[in-house]
Amino acid sequence: MFVDTDPETFQIDARKIEAAITPRTRCLLPVHLGGSAADMDTILEVARKHRLPVIEDAAQAHFGEWKKRKLSTLGDLGCFSFQASKNLNSGEGGAILSNDDRLIEACVSFQNQGRGTAGYARNGLNLRLTEFQGAILTSQFERLEAQSVSRETNAAYLTSMLREIPGIHPARMYDGCTRNGYHLYMFRYDAKQFSGLPRARFLEAMKAEGIPSSGGYRPLNKEKFIHDTLNSRGYQRIYSPEDRRAWHERNHCPANDRLCEEAVWFTQNMLLGKREDMEQIAEAVRKIEKHAGALA
Ligand SMILES: Cc1ncc(COP(=O)(O)O)c(C=O)c1O
Repeated sequence: MFVDTDPETFQIDARKIEAAITPRTRCLLPVHLGGSAADMDTILEVARKHRLPVIEDAAQAHFGEWKKRKLSTLGDLGCFSFQASKNLNSGEGGAILSNDDRLIEACVSFQNQGRGTAGYARNGLNLRLTEFQGAILTSQFERLEAQSVSRETNAAYLTSMLREIPGIHPARMYDGCTRNGYHLYMFRYDAKQFSGLPRARFLEAMKAEGIPSSGGYRPLNKEKFIHDTLNSRGYQRIYSPEDRRAWHERNHCPANDRLCEEAVWFTQNMLLGKREDMEQIAEAVRKIEKHAGALA
């Protein structure tokens, strides 16, 4: 079940998480999107109350922190992605973190074709990371801290300029997010303040100014594979028609829909540039705002 944010503040609410929990809920899975920490105090409190494990998706949040603790170390399990676009990458691959030996042993076994200490312990896949990838990842640690500082410094500078432009709303962070991994720099684009210039045209204008940007993800809860999974033979066997109908009826996230319609993203590598590069980005947005009427 997906949990939507508040439509005004785009923050998560404990009551909304609790309303989504059913007897079939097996865990809570916060996603630290773009490298910005999810509200871990609220999520961990609800998890404790309902005795649910927490799996942190820190795929985009290398070096991100919640109240000075590294993301991926607050829940029962945490995971990172090392896929090609990520701040730390080996083309493909990832890592799972946990303090629970039993969970880690299960994960190690699963990615090793289900092998255990004595034969096959479970069903599994071959997801083994090679030593070659390990070497590529380890060597990147020499520069990762400096790059992270650079991304944070540039993002703060960019925010100070962009927030002055009417209709541009840089993503806010929770107070507890003491460090943002900045896999993405995200802001909301209000077309009304740009003479009604649609976001797609804004993105094109940015490209024409030499600034690559995107509109980010589409709403995950509306993807066809979710619908197909819900109606699959396997799910039909496990879940009653009432259960599946109830899930379908509750599967609405209007605040997230709005975010997906208004979002503009820059990728992390753009934050590795110089201070002047951030000024050029802001200048491009200002220029589009100035000529939005003609562009529209
Ligand atoms: C938030 C998030 N979760 C999960 C994944 C999946 O990671 P991977 O591609 O390494 O399987 C990604 C990236 O691809 C991601 O960005």
